[in-house]
Amino acid sequence: MEKAEKKQGDIGTLLIEAQHATSEFHSLLAYTMDKSLHCDVIIATPVSLIDHMVRESEESSRVYKLIESGKISPSDAIIHECVFWLRQMADHLGYILHYSDVSNYDVNFQVMQMMQKFERLYLQAVALQTMIRTPRKETLPILTQFKNVIIKEAKSLEAFKLEIDELIKTCAIATTSPPDLLEHIAREAHHLWRNLEEDRIT
Ligand SMILES: [Fe+2]
Repeated sequence: MEKAEKKQGDIGTLLIEAQHATSEFHSLLAYTMDKSLHCDVIIATPVSLIDHMVRESEESSRVYKLIESGKISPSDAIIHECVFWLRQMADHLGYILHYSDVSNYDVNFQVMQMMQKFERLYLQAVALQTMIRTPRKETLPILTQFKNVIIKEAKSLEAFKLEIDELIKTCAIATTSPPDLLEHIAREAHHLWRNLEEDRIT
């Protein structure tokens, strides 16, 4: 019992620390984005990529609150993860394209096709979010079917990102991508399918 209370206390402290670090990171990014939009600074990082990171830090804060509330059904978790992460996945493909050299015609075409697929899946997630009203006590077959599609697509997206990562690391493709970007965004695709497999939010 004492041990369990101590563990609970540790998790509580960790959550507070994480919330604090996230809010500092968020302020810095939002400040930089505003400066960039006013053309007060010219930076190589695209504004949409800064916005992407701002949204991810806001998502962390939302997730802390949801974990604390403890009130989230499997359906809520699936819809939440899909609506948030599918837009991020489409963004990732946009950034791969942004950094990839124009001469990579075939790779760029594949990336563009995947980006459009994820944009469509994102719109489908938004449609399901409003069609399946709260409280979402049961998981409808239409949502289970969608979830299974996303698990499959996120797994193949993760593999695709890792393939490009390998090409970048072995200097086998012309790109100006930051060296660890692909590995990082592959981890986010992994995060999406793993959470969906377990019907949870993390
Ligand atoms: Fe991301």
